[in-house]
Amino acid sequence: VFSQTRGTPAPIDPSELERSLQDFGTARMLPRAAYVDPAVLAWEQANIFSGWMCVGRAADIAQPGDQKAVTTGQGGVLLTRDDSGDVHAFANVCRHRGHELLACGVAAINKKAIVCPYHAWTYQLDGTLRAAPTFKDVAGFSTEDFPLARLAVADWHGWLFVDPSGDSGSFAAHVGSAEAVIAPYSPQDLTVVARHEYELATNWKIIVENYQECYHCPMIHPELCRVSPPTSGEDVELDGTWMAGWMDLAAGAQTMSLDGSSGGVAIQGLSEQELSTVMYIVGFPNLLVSLHPDYVMTHILTPLAADRTHVECTWAFPADVAAKPGFDPAYAVDFWDLTNRQDWAACESVQRGLSSPHAIPGPMAPEETGVHDFVTRMARAYAGVPAR
Ligand code: FES
Ligand SMILES: [Fe+2]
Repeated sequence: VFSQTRGTPAPIDPSELERSLQDFGTARMLPRAAYVDPAVLAWEQANIFSGWMCVGRAADIAQPGDQKAVTTGQGGVLLTRDDSGDVHAFANVCRHRGHELLACGVAAINKKAIVCPYHAWTYQLDGTLRAAPTFKDVAGFSTEDFPLARLAVADWHGWLFVDPSGDSGSFAAHVGSAEAVIAPYSPQDLTVVARHEYELATNWKIIVENYQECYHCPMIHPELCRVSPPTSGEDVELDGTWMAGWMDLAAGAQTMSLDGSSGGVAIQGLSEQELSTVMYIVGFPNLLVSLHPDYVMTHILTPLAADRTHVECTWAFPADVAAKPGFDPAYAVDFWDLTNRQDWAACESVQRGLSSPHAIPGPMAPEETGVHDFVTRMARAYAGVPAR
């Protein structure tokens, strides 16, 4: 449910949205404006990327004193870990005159306090203002009046999520039954061994839509099709805001790699079904989780402009596998880096195509039920009505 969308419609012609709200079979893709109009992105930043969204891994701020700022919809988010190990999230804005407390998008730093780089107001890791230079004798000034703006935060299986709006409901309700799909893989116990950053000249939704279907796989992913039959699999019905579907591994393939073999070890405790499939989950709106028998890959999407998106891709393996001397994650990383680049080329081409005023929303193929699911959710949000 887009509880963060409180009935403010997006700047999109409602009659155009009607086509996207229809049942599977007759529905059309989102209106072109959804992909190219900066006003629509601004609406999404205020109404979609203001509720629960993924901001990275808890392990990125593993130690007490670790601090890191990330870009989100409206303004950055500052993440800290305090001396008792608790994670906090704040708006990345100083209570004095608004300087960012930390630069966004750089690796975590470790300090006993949060120090604003402008005039050195100093905050504790829990957001309390500790000191404001020369204010000591200013009549009526109290540090208690200037704590950092606290945001709701959740550490879920090792991923951190924030809800800047503060009224998007509980995180558990947001995730819904995706919890049961992901839990067997124990992502919180996996170690991120590789990380790639991509900046794509495409709208963030084109990346999600591409992730939701394998109708394109025979055309652009010959390597993928060798280890996972593109027509295999099914969507999974979930009751939260997330979406999922799985695909089979080909006979004899242990995982997604160029030759189907694993250079690691299967995650402990997976079922027969989990060992012979790959589960693809869209953690709405910006986390894509690909659950393999022996590793978990995630993409975190950050919209930068209507036609520009930052993507961070990580690969995580069981801790004992990751710690083995000489362990080489290339079998997984190289396979998906190749596949990612094939996808990115297609997504960027779709963006260029949609820049044409002649672009008209097209229909969805029988294989594109996942695309329909996502398009419908977006169209409902745009229309200012609940997602389900
Ligand atoms: S703006 Fe942060 S100390 Fe002045
Ligand atoms: Fe693809």
